[in-house]
This record gives sequence, C-alpha cells and structure tokens, in this order.
Amino acid sequence: MEKLIIKGGNKLHGTVNISGFKNSAVAIIPATVLAGDTCVIDNLPQISDVKILADLLSSLGADVKNSEPNMLKINTSKMRECYADYEMAKELRASYYLLGAALGRFKKAKVAYPGGCSIGNRPIDQHIKGFEALGADVNIEHGIISVEAEKLTGAEIYLDVVSVGATINIMLAAVMAEGTTIIENAAKEPHIVDIANYLNCMGADVRGAGTDVIKIRGVNKLGGCSHTVIPDQIEAGTYMIAAAAAGGDVLIDNIIPKHLEAVIAKLKETGVQVIEGGESLRIISSGDLKSVSIKTLVYPGFPTDLQQPMSSLLTTAKGTGIVTETIFDRRFKHIDELKRMGANIKVEGRVAVIHGVEKLTGAEVVASDLRAGASLVVAALMAEGETEIENIQFIDRGYAQLEQKLLNLGADIRRE
Ligand code: UD1
Repeated sequence: MEKLIIKGGNKLHGTVNISGFKNSAVAIIPATVLAGDTCVIDNLPQISDVKILADLLSSLGADVKNSEPNMLKINTSKMRECYADYEMAKELRASYYLLGAALGRFKKAKVAYPGGCSIGNRPIDQHIKGFEALGADVNIEHGIISVEAEKLTGAEIYLDVVSVGATINIMLAAVMAEGTTIIENAAKEPHIVDIANYLNCMGADVRGAGTDVIKIRGVNKLGGCSHTVIPDQIEAGTYMIAAAAAGGDVLIDNIIPKHLEAVIAKLKETGVQVIEGGESLRIISSGDLKSVSIKTLVYPGFPTDLQQPMSSLLTTAKGTGIVTETIFDRRFKHIDELKRMGANIKVEGRVAVIHGVEKLTGAEVVASDLRAGASLVVAALMAEGETEIENIQFIDRGYAQLEQKLLNLGADIRRE
C-alpha cells in the first residue's frame, strides 16, 4: 500500500495547472456509447477513475485508444449491448452513467449497483424515476440494475432532490427518445453544461443546461465528435484552499474563475487576497486567517466536495467556524483524523464546530474517501512535522499528478 509523506510548514509559491474535470470526464466517457461512432475526448485528467472507465468500456466491446496522455479516442460502433457486472462496476459510482447511455442507444442495459466514495446514503431513486418516466422498466435483483424499454418517449420529469447524477443520466437516456423531455429542478453544476455541450456536439438537441429546466428534443441518431473537457473546479478549489492554508503566492491556472465564486468569496472572508485573471486566480496568503462559517449547497453554492479541504483550513483559523453539510449525511469522516493532528472540532449530526487552534502537528492518518484525502493533504501542508497519509488510492481517483504539482509549488511531499 502506498502512502504520502508530507513535511508541513513550507509556504507554497508558483503556478499550478489545473487538469480536466473528473466529474465531467466520468460522464463523458460512458456517454460515448450513445455515439456508435468515434469520439475524441481531450483534456482528460490522468486519474484512476478515467483509467477504470476506459478499461470498463473496452471490456464491453468499445475500441479505446490512449495515444496521448490526456486524450482518449473511443469507438463504440461494435458494441451491441451493455452488461457491467459487479467486478466491473464496483470501483466507481459513475459506472451508473452506462445505464442512461446504453438505455438511450440499445434500449436496455444491465449495470451492477454502483460503488464510489462512502460519504453517506446515496440512493438512485431519481435516476430510476427518470428512466421510468421515459418508458423503461427498471428492476434491481441480486445487486444488478436492469433497464429495458420497447421505446423511449419524451416526458416531463421533476426531480424531487437536485441531483447531478440523475440530471446527467436522464439527459443521456433522453437524447434519442421520441419527442421532448423536460427535466425540472435539474442540477446546474458546470459539468452538466459540459456534458450537454458534448451531447450537442454528437448531434443531440439539449437546451437550458446550467439552468434548472433542461429541454431535450429527441433525435434519431448521434455521431462521433471531438470534445475538450472543462477544467476541474474542485481540483482548482483544493489548490486555492491549500495555498490559503499553508500561506504563499500561487497562481491557479487554466481554470474558469466563474465556477469558483463561492470559494473565492469564502477565502476573501478569511483574509486571503484573491486576484482574478481571465483564466486564472492568484492566491496570496500569510497563512494567518480568520475563521468563517460555510454551508454546502448545490451549485452555485459552496460545493460539498470542498467542504472537507475547507474544514482543514479552518482548524488553525482565528475564532470559531461552523461547517454545515447539507448534501451528504456522512461527510465528516476526515474530522477524527484532523483531531489526531490536534484540531479542536465538535460534530453534531451534519454540523461541525471548528475552534481554531494555534497549530496542527503531523501524525499518521488515513483517508476514508477522495475529498477526505484532499483535506488531509491540506492539513499536512499546514502542520508542524511529518504526516503520513494512508489509503491514498482514494486521492489518486481524483487528483492528477498531485505530488508533482505540490512539489513544483515548494511542498515537501513524497510517495512511499
Ligand atoms: C456528484 C458529484 C460529486 C458531488 C455531488 C454533489 C460526480 C461524478 N460526482 O455526485 O462529486 O459531491 O454531485 O455535488 O459528478 N440523491 C437522491 N436520489 C437520487 C440521487 C441523489 O436522494 O436519485 C441525493 C443524494 O443522496 C445526495 C444529493 O441527492 O444527498 C446529491 O446527490 P447527487 O447530486 O446525485 O450526487 P452525485 O451525482 O452522486
């Protein structure tokens, strides 16, 4: 088992280039099934989730070529069906996008109930409600979700909870349905727009992505196209928080600053200087910060994926910060590890009260999920002495070249 060893205390300086958005990539790769043709996907992050999905598609009969590091050329013309068993699907939650994509093209699919990070109860009732509204039968037996339809017909679907995954899965299933589908109370996250743009580039007719009403006029056929994945706003936010917490002067480059408004606002409240450029943000921080409170919300609110890294920043900020997690019910598993590093935090249900302490001290800690891992990296960069982070396979799921990027910024980090 590999681990990351970080000696804290170095201020961060320099430029970090942000990779393509993991959450977009893990939907766009399964969506290539809809094309039945060749799609070229560029600006993919070099993370294990992308590799797992590429292997999964390949084992399902797609021709997947990885001739350049950030690019996949995927031809799905020879695929005739989609059956992803537990061994294939358990590795990541996004395997469930194969359900929507294969339902859209083959009118049927079987995929094992998805795995993914353990951050709380993660039902898929809204995905199922959407598939059923389009005319599909959905069955879950022996851990396998089967969807099948004689034909798919456009429908009006109101999501009872704003769900990123359900919005995307319904878009995938609806692009080749007969007639018009309207998704109401849709998620508005930047990757919903990226995926809609990708579908439109394949010949679909999706309008309104980025608002809470998405209208999809079904088309008969989709084809191949080339698409460049948008920058990863969560990776960008993690480096912004790391630079703010450790102190220093860091340019976060190759991003869309508009996607990070909530994080910019909160970091400014802590006393960090944030200077916006066209495709970059410069973070200047003394490391000596004021506490703030955050509440996670759907986009454009403060993202739940950055709640954990932000909690680490707050451990040494002056005063008391209240962190309220409204999206997932068990996303505080990093807190016990932060306490082992000297943090003073009380958790009551979905609220963590963080009293700033003078310093954190390095310890042996364990990442329980992807963003918990990121929060431990931030804490380790701030801490006095050495921190050993175990279970870093979670971090590798979502952060491309993490050590190299942090080394370039002057951090003392190594993998063993
Ligand atoms: C996506 C992101 C993840 C992020 C999350 C919230 C990807 C690959 N992952 O996850 O990084 O943390 O959005 O921004 O894009 N829910 C239901 N029923 C459903 C579906 C969801 O009740 O059918 C609930 C969930 O339990 C959760 C909330 O809705 O409480 C939001 O979940 P959702 O937006 O679906 O998250 P994911 O798509 O899994």
